Amino acid sequence: MFDTDHSAPVIQLRGGSTSFIVELGAPLPRVLHWGADLGELSAAELDTIRITAKPSVTHNSTDTPRLLTVLPTEADAWSGTPGIEGRMRSTGMPYPRFRLNGHTHDEPESTLTLRLHCDLGLELSLRYRLDEHGILAVDGRLRRTGGTSDERTGGTPDGGDVFDLSALTLMLPLPERATEIVDFTGKWSRERSPQRVPVPFGTHLREIRRGRPSLDSPYLLMAGTGGFGFRTGEVWALHVAWSGNQRYFVEQLPEGAGVHRSVVGGGELLLPGEVALGDGDTYDSPTLCFAWSDDGMDGVADRFHELLRSRPHHPASPRPLVLNTWEAVYFDHDLETLSELVDRAASVGVERVVLDDGWFLGRRSARTGLGDWLVDPDVWPDGLSPLVERVRSHGMEFGLWFEPEMINLSSRLAEDHPDWILAPATGEGPSVRHQHVLNIAHEDAWKFVYDRIDALVSEYRIDYIKWDHNRELHEASRRDDGGRAGVRAQTEAIYRLLDALRSRHRGLEIESCASGGGRIDLGILQRTDRVWASDCNDPVERQQIQRWTGQLLPPELVGTHVGAAEAHSTRRVTSLPFRLATALFGHAGIELNLNACDSDELSTIRAWAGLYKELRPLLHSGRVVRADLTDEQTLLHGIVAADRTSALFSWARLGTSPAITSGRVPLPGLDPDRRYRLRLRAEIGRPELNEHPPGWLAAAEEGSLSLGGRTLSGLGLPMPTLQPQQALLLQLDAV
Ligand code: GLA
Repeated sequence: MFDTDHSAPVIQLRGGSTSFIVELGAPLPRVLHWGADLGELSAAELDTIRITAKPSVTHNSTDTPRLLTVLPTEADAWSGTPGIEGRMRSTGMPYPRFRLNGHTHDEPESTLTLRLHCDLGLELSLRYRLDEHGILAVDGRLRRTGGTSDERTGGTPDGGDVFDLSALTLMLPLPERATEIVDFTGKWSRERSPQRVPVPFGTHLREIRRGRPSLDSPYLLMAGTGGFGFRTGEVWALHVAWSGNQRYFVEQLPEGAGVHRSVVGGGELLLPGEVALGDGDTYDSPTLCFAWSDDGMDGVADRFHELLRSRPHHPASPRPLVLNTWEAVYFDHDLETLSELVDRAASVGVERVVLDDGWFLGRRSARTGLGDWLVDPDVWPDGLSPLVERVRSHGMEFGLWFEPEMINLSSRLAEDHPDWILAPATGEGPSVRHQHVLNIAHEDAWKFVYDRIDALVSEYRIDYIKWDHNRELHEASRRDDGGRAGVRAQTEAIYRLLDALRSRHRGLEIESCASGGGRIDLGILQRTDRVWASDCNDPVERQQIQRWTGQLLPPELVGTHVGAAEAHSTRRVTSLPFRLATALFGHAGIELNLNACDSDELSTIRAWAGLYKELRPLLHSGRVVRADLTDEQTLLHGIVAADRTSALFSWARLGTSPAITSGRVPLPGLDPDRRYRLRLRAEIGRPELNEHPPGWLAAAEEGSLSLGGRTLSGLGLPMPTLQPQQALLLQLDAV
């Protein structure tokens, strides 16, 4: 029957050119729209959306239309992934039936909180906040109130029962035109590799059971219109802001999802027994960040970059040029060599020196020492002070490497506290990189690690911690809690540890490393200041890794270092200018043995350091733009100032192509109504060309060329054909 019931209020949240519309229907609310901003809607228009939000009744289906609620379950004939899974322990009852029990709509804050209630003594609050950047943050809080009022369950009315939660899954609808998915996979040194698949019937499910988002993290799941690209298409995206196990999915049932076609959702992947809610207990889901854009993947990236940049703790100071010692010396720590490295770093313009792995007790290889966070007197007889003082004498900051959640069996810590290892109840389980996981959810272990780091940060006035996490969690069984699965507890404990250290040491910066890129998510970024994107410093690989890491993070949060000519991870040999041009587009650093560089190399690096310092205000505040090119061997990306008065583009070639010339290539994101002066930035060396350059390039080299933004962004420039593994840096300034 045609529904003309006007009683259920319809609420619209608006922000960042996005609308989110919910009908507060009974028994459960429904999402009527998530996507393009529909403007300020009249009551009659909202009602139109509401009454047209019912699908037909189909063959072999329920006798009433199947509706998609905010918590889809079998109770509303939803046969897809349920919004909640679990059971009452005493009876085995697995079907909590929620109904709306109240709501709060805070219009200025653009927030809607739905309070749901169920007869198994559970309350669920779902909070939706649509911010000015267009990010819709959704959180769920499940609470066991105690008492079971429904006879159907056979539960004890006085409470005392437990609800074993298996999953709380939050999802939003997708329209029929969202037909393709892009998400990510990867491995060590090849992180954030995109994969594109059609939205299937059934479930496109990504489950992460590695105890950290890991190297194959889905990272950001995007569903979009056919062929959506960097600059084109409508895209609906999801990021799970959580550093432990997690799930992402897109699901399409033959009957659709109410009046919608499919759903996108996710949450924390809980292990059996991880969440058992007794009376008064609460479970908080991770925040799910949904974003919609009709400006392609760059539009989605923009929204996340703006969100991250608006955080109160977003780094405000110029991102210091880093020297990291890892690939220069590995475990071979020696004061004399490192002092020379520090002096050379200062001479090229480095601003922060980070002493990597190898400084603590017995740490001469990856086999020993993790857990013993004491400076090794065999290698550092006078402690780290001589090195730290040397660093400071040049006016540079000092950073130190830690891997606090890990333990080697060959360590004092493992000898003293074998019970602190997060491992199967018997044995230790397989090692990874010769190491095991420390159960920091164990209070004493947490305190032990906190005290050690705190003491070192205080003693050496450490400015920066490179916080590593080099293995996955397998059979993470808590010996202090009857063997219960401990991934969630470990994730919460690491958050507590980071929060405590940051609040005690104001200004301390922390990098989330995790084998390079194994823990990049907005949960960890609530308490860290940058990520190490990958251990791969090979610029050919790195161009892609950075381009896709930028899908979520702005460049200032992503460490980008120049490595050795022969990359340690791939053994590919590349030129210094190409390595430097690649490392410019992030929080730049050096991971190369400067002691082995000749004076020409040092002066090129010095010039690059100057360029980085000159350009970082633009690089670390502008909008990231990436061009959609059919030639996979060429990459064009850039940063355009927020007011579009300047921009820096990188035109890079990875390999050869069958086409001889590029044709016109649009430089995206410029102001069509401005003219720009074009300048080739060749301080780090001119790229090698495969041809005589197009005429405009010579004029740009002289700095005498001004062109209109409409042509540059609309039609584009014929770009020179570079030799493989070369990059050209082009600066544009409005005239
Ligand atoms: C991990 C990191 C590297 C380095 C080593 C040290 O692999 O990703 O950058 O710090 O650990 O062991």
